[in-house]
Amino acid sequence: MMIILREAGAADAPAIAAIYAALIADTTITFRSAPTSTEDRAAWIAERQASGFPVMVSERDGDVLGYASYGPFRGLDGYRLTVEHTIALSPAARGQGLGRELMQALIARARSDGLHVMVGALSSDNAASRRMHAALGFTLAGTLPQTGQKFGRWLNLELWQLLLDGRERP
Ligand SMILES: CC(C)(COP(=O)(O)OP(=O)(O)OC[C@H]1O[C@@H](n2cnc3c(N)ncnc32)[C@H](O)[C@@H]1OP(=O)(O)O)[C@@H](O)C(=O)NCCC(=O)NCCS
Repeated sequence: MMIILREAGAADAPAIAAIYAALIADTTITFRSAPTSTEDRAAWIAERQASGFPVMVSERDGDVLGYASYGPFRGLDGYRLTVEHTIALSPAARGQGLGRELMQALIARARSDGLHVMVGALSSDNAASRRMHAALGFTLAGTLPQTGQKFGRWLNLELWQLLLDGRERP
C-alpha cells in the first residue's frame, strides 16, 4: 500500500473538511470553534493555490490521510519570505511518521520557493505536534500565554520556527 504525496484538488475538499471539522468540534488543537464545510475548504484550497501556495495531501489507496499547507504570515509585504503552515492527519493515520513525511515535502517546497522561515503556531496542549516539530528541526521561539479560549478555558499559543536554509541570512 503506497503512500502518495500530491497537490490537492477541489475533489479533496470533503476529506479535508472532515479532518478539520473533528479538530474544531473536539479539540484545542485549533482555536477555531466555528464549524467548517466542504465549500469552505474548497474555497480555502482554491485561494491558497491561486496565491501560489501549496496544499498537499497524503493518500493511500485513494483515501486522503491528511493534508498540509502554508500561507502568508501576518499578511504584510515585509513578511513575504516567511510562511505559516498547517498540518492535520485523520485520527487513524496518526503516530506512524506520516505527519513528518508530509511536513518534509512541505519544507522541500518552501525551500524551492526560496522562502526563509516557516512558522508553526501550536496550542501548548498539542504534545504530538510539539514532538514532530522538534524532530523536524523547528525551535520554540516563544509562548503567548492565554491568547486563546475554547471550551471555557484559556489556551496558550506556541510559535515554532524553522530557518529554511539552516542559518540566519546576512
Ligand atoms: C501532529 C501530527 C501532524 C503529527 O503527525 P504524526 O504522523 O502523528 O506524527 P509522527 O508519527 O510523525 O511522530 C512525530 C513525533 O511525535 C510523537 N507523537 C506522535 N503522536 C504523539 C502523541 N499523541 N503524543 C505525544 N507524542 C506523539 C512521535 O513519537 C514522534 O516523536 P519522536 O520523533 O520523538 O519519535 C498528527 O498527530 C495530527 O494530525 N494531529 C492532529 C492535528 C494536529 O495536531 N495538527 C498540528 C497542529 S499544529
